[in-house]
Amino acid sequence: MIIKKTPSEIEAIAASGRILARCHRLLRSKARPGVTTGQLDEAAERFIRSQGAEPVFKGYRGYPGSICTSPNSMVVHGIPGPYSLSRGDVLSIDIGVLRDGWVSDAAVTLPIGPVSPVARGLLAATRAALFEAVGQCRAGHRLGDVSAAVQRRVEADGYSVIRSLVGHGVGRDMHEDPQIPNYGRPGTGPMLEEGMVLAIEPMVNAGGHEVRMGTDNWAVYSLDGSLAAHFEHTVAVTADGPRILTPWHDEDETTGSGGNGASDSAPATSAAGT
Ligand code: MF3
Ligand code: CO
Repeated sequence: MIIKKTPSEIEAIAASGRILARCHRLLRSKARPGVTTGQLDEAAERFIRSQGAEPVFKGYRGYPGSICTSPNSMVVHGIPGPYSLSRGDVLSIDIGVLRDGWVSDAAVTLPIGPVSPVARGLLAATRAALFEAVGQCRAGHRLGDVSAAVQRRVEADGYSVIRSLVGHGVGRDMHEDPQIPNYGRPGTGPMLEEGMVLAIEPMVNAGGHEVRMGTDNWAVYSLDGSLAAHFEHTVAVTADGPRILTPWHDEDETTGSGGNGASDSAPATSAAGT
C-alpha cells in the first residue's frame, strides 16, 4: 500500500531534505584526492546531528556508517572507511536524514578531479535520467512512466540500468511501497496520486547490468568491474507537479536534457541557501 502524505507532512519531509541537501553540498566541498571516505562519514554525521536530525542509515539492519560511499565500480552501500580518494575516481555518496520522524533520501556521484570521458558520460546520463524521471512524477501518470524515463535516457547513451536494485516510497520509513525499478513500460503500474513521496534513484553501470555483492555483505559492485553511477532525489507528487524535496543540485540544472517540467514547481531556489 502506498502511503500518501498531507501537505504539512510533505513540508516536514522537505525540512529533512533541506538538511540532507546541505550535507551533500558540504561533502561535495570536502571530497578531494587524499580525503578518506571515513572522513566524509564523520563530517556528515557531525553536520546532520548539529541540525537536530539523525543519519537514518546508521544502525539500519546493522549498517555501521552514517552515509554510503561507493567509489568507481561500487554501485551502492559502500561502508565508509580508510579508502582514500584519488584523482580520476568517481564517488557515489548516498545520505538519509531523519528529522522530526520524517525521512529524506538522496544520492549523487561526484567526479574527483578530472575524470575519464566514459566517467563523464556515465555521470551525465545517470543525472539526466534522474531529472527526466522526476518530470514524470505527476498525478495521473503511472509508475511505469517514471521507470521507462530512466531506462530510455540511460540506454540511449549505451549504459546499463541495474535490474536488482530499485527506488522506493519514503516517509516515516526509509523504504515504503512502491518499489521503483529503473526500467519498465510507459502506461503500466500503479497510478501516481497527489501526496505520494518517491525516492527516485537510477543506478547505472557503464558496462553490463549485472552486479555482485561484496564480501562485507553490503557493498554492491558491477560484475564486470565497469564504473557505476547513482543519483537520487526524494520527490513529492503535488497538485503543482513534481516537487524535489532534497535540492542538492544547482538552481540552473533542475531538469535533464528532456526538460520535462520538474523545474516549474521544484523549490530548488528557495531551499538552496537555507
Ligand atoms: N538509499 C539507500 C537505499 O535506499 C540507503 C540504504 S543504506 C542502508 O537502500 F545502510 F541504510 F541500508
Ligand atoms: Co533510496
